[in-house]
Amino acid sequence: MIKIGRVTVSLEMREVYVEDRLLQVGSRAFDILELLIRAEGQTVTKEDIFRHVWPKSVVGENNIHVQLSAVRKIFGADNHAIRTISGRGYRLTIPVEANDPADLPATVPACEATGAASQSGLPVCHAPLIGRDEAMAEITRALKGTPIVTLLGPGGIGKTQLGIAVARSIAATSGMDVCFITLASVDNAQSVIGTVAAALGVGRADGDVPLQSLVAAIRGRKLLVLLDNCEHVIESAAIICEMLVQASADLRILATSREPLRTRDEKFYWVAPLETPNVHASAKEILACSSVRMFLAQMNALNTVVEHDRSSLEMLATICRRLDGIPLALELAAARTAVFGIRKLVSELDDRFQFLTGGRRTAPARQQTLEAALDWSYQLLSVTERLVLQRLGVFAARFSLEAACNVAACGRLSRHEVTEAIVGLASKCFLMTTFDSKTKEYFLLETTREYALRKLHESEEADEVLTRKSTYLAPVYEQPYGRVFGVAALGGKPSMEPVAAR
Ligand SMILES: Nc1ncnc2c1ncn2[C@@H]1O[C@H](COP(=O)(O)OP(=O)(O)OP(=O)(O)O)[C@@H](O)[C@H]1O
Ligand SMILES: [Mg+2]
Repeated sequence: MIKIGRVTVSLEMREVYVEDRLLQVGSRAFDILELLIRAEGQTVTKEDIFRHVWPKSVVGENNIHVQLSAVRKIFGADNHAIRTISGRGYRLTIPVEANDPADLPATVPACEATGAASQSGLPVCHAPLIGRDEAMAEITRALKGTPIVTLLGPGGIGKTQLGIAVARSIAATSGMDVCFITLASVDNAQSVIGTVAAALGVGRADGDVPLQSLVAAIRGRKLLVLLDNCEHVIESAAIICEMLVQASADLRILATSREPLRTRDEKFYWVAPLETPNVHASAKEILACSSVRMFLAQMNALNTVVEHDRSSLEMLATICRRLDGIPLALELAAARTAVFGIRKLVSELDDRFQFLTGGRRTAPARQQTLEAALDWSYQLLSVTERLVLQRLGVFAARFSLEAACNVAACGRLSRHEVTEAIVGLASKCFLMTTFDSKTKEYFLLETTREYALRKLHESEEADEVLTRKSTYLAPVYEQPYGRVFGVAALGGKPSMEPVAAR
């Protein structure tokens, strides 16, 4: 919680209190308040406000005046709390304090860096990033010593948002220029080069660009490139990243991908799911989990309140746990909860692919539904990997390589091929690996497992694979979901180690 005089604000929950009384604050007024808080007493310009609050529309200045007067009302008698800086903008005159320094805003908005390092194309973040302070610190540290850091994780886990927050914070604190390049809509090597070149100011995205021109464009520049969505053009992305960092010691690349680039100078950062409550968590523990905080923040943004009675909290915990703490899934679930209520959502979790549709209209197609998020990665798998994945869907708990081979090596697949496919599935984020036992074990997130099972049942081998599983595995091996998923099952915080299965 952040204190500004008599006013207390939670940026995560988007809530404002005056002496413990919750105020109703419209979402645009809150956006402006957030900008002022994050600017820590610096001037927030009108352009900053237009960019942050109305990014997609052109509105007149009177809109700012209306929203500012709502923000000023929050401060009541402290009517000098927000000072107008004539011809420029506004600033907060009361100091911002936090009981816990970790509550102070970790990300730096575009306005703060205005006039400092350039942030070419870096999207403005509209909602606070929840539960990633430690990750931000770790990634920032990694970038100091390594030219390429790749943020890895399954679809919708929050790689892009985390990358943007890190890049923005580095631009503000180190003066390094930042260039955001997304490869999401690129599908061949030449387009990768063209897109990177155009973003760096060399030629056009659809023209031929000699690699030497690219190298010349970055040489001598203190530059951080955020290269987003590399997985579907992984080889070209790897080649260009390696070439660029070898040409300039001042260049850093923060890549996001569902699979490692596997370049010479790369460190991986596995983006973990948000923390989920365990089955016996108390009300306080449930509310402290980052996945629950994110879900509630989404509900809040949709002007929907979730009661905090025991039964509602348990349903909340179940949703967050069964959706594996994946932000995209939680975002889709929150939108559905706002329409149908939390009880209905819990009852539809077994049918999540039908129910979790209708993402933000402006989100990329792969983030419009839960199924699309998985389809995007699935189409990048080899035929063997697809076959092994659907067979592994029968495991409702952790399993060893030996168990996987016993079940999945049948028909035309040898044990060796299954082992190779498991390595591929782990590196492409379909399989999670546990690090906390002597023998390495694997498991599927619940959503991935549901997806794999759907594929299995669409095939003709479901009966055979299920029979193999009951023949080869003692029933005692299976543990219920509650004990398998959650923070402990992931072996604590994400690791900077290379992919586990390699
Ligand atoms: N820590 C977080 N706090 C709040 N919202 C988050 C957080 N992480 C992600 N989100 C939200 O979840 C959604 C998915 O996040 P993001 O696009 O970063 O995922 P991704 O891993 O990059 O997915 P993809 O693999 O499809 O590119 C976004 O709408 C984002 O705003
Ligand atoms: Mg992304």
